[in-house]
Amino acid sequence: MSLLSRRHLMMAATGLVAAAAAPRLAFAQAAAAAPSGPFTLPPLPYAAAALEPHIDAKTMEIHHGKHHQAYVTNMNNFAKDHPKLAEMPVQDVLGKLGDVPEAIRTGVRNNLGGHANHTMFWQIMGPNGGKPSGEVLAAIDRDLGGMEKFQTDFNAAGGKQFGSGWVFVTVSKDGKLAIEARPNQDTPLMDGKRVLMGNDVWEHAYYLNYQNRRADYLKAWWNTVNWSKVAERYEAAKAGTLGV
Ligand SMILES: [Fe+2]
Repeated sequence: MSLLSRRHLMMAATGLVAAAAAPRLAFAQAAAAAPSGPFTLPPLPYAAAALEPHIDAKTMEIHHGKHHQAYVTNMNNFAKDHPKLAEMPVQDVLGKLGDVPEAIRTGVRNNLGGHANHTMFWQIMGPNGGKPSGEVLAAIDRDLGGMEKFQTDFNAAGGKQFGSGWVFVTVSKDGKLAIEARPNQDTPLMDGKRVLMGNDVWEHAYYLNYQNRRADYLKAWWNTVNWSKVAERYEAAKAGTLGV
């Protein structure tokens, strides 16, 4: 095979032939789709397929690229008329929603809450997540009755959440843990608390693969937890530097 045809084959395999044929159009479309405001979608720290078979790639792509992106886009629209929203740390805005103008307060609660919750969510998952150890495991044993009881109680709280919502583990500055569920995109950040980890129980998080079987999703999700990232967040919480 000639060098040229081999290169062409490789380009075709990666879908680059069409893009190369109309580079200006491709760039124009990319520019139009680019974030237009101060809020940005954090990239997934792993491939969309990395959490399979527990969470499928299509669910991850839609969840991250469409649902989370929509919260970001909506916040950028709010920030056009209310630039101060982007000048404070996200957790500080959510901790003082009463200071947000009433006309946009519910929108900020839902969309900035969604942005914060999902930013945390992508971080604390990953392939080859291992098991909790060290201080996090000691805190789970001390405050949540050990790993088995923790997982049972966490899954029960997530299963009981009627409709859409989240189940979280909050962490205080002295390292104490608690399981807390919230509806919609509400977050313990709204109560001035910090989130160690959490699971999304909106149907958009699992419906393609699990349909109505939320309990199965909750059980499988534990295989995706990145415990070294959770340990980092625990240290940050105790140091007072944990954000969203
Ligand atoms: Fe979600």
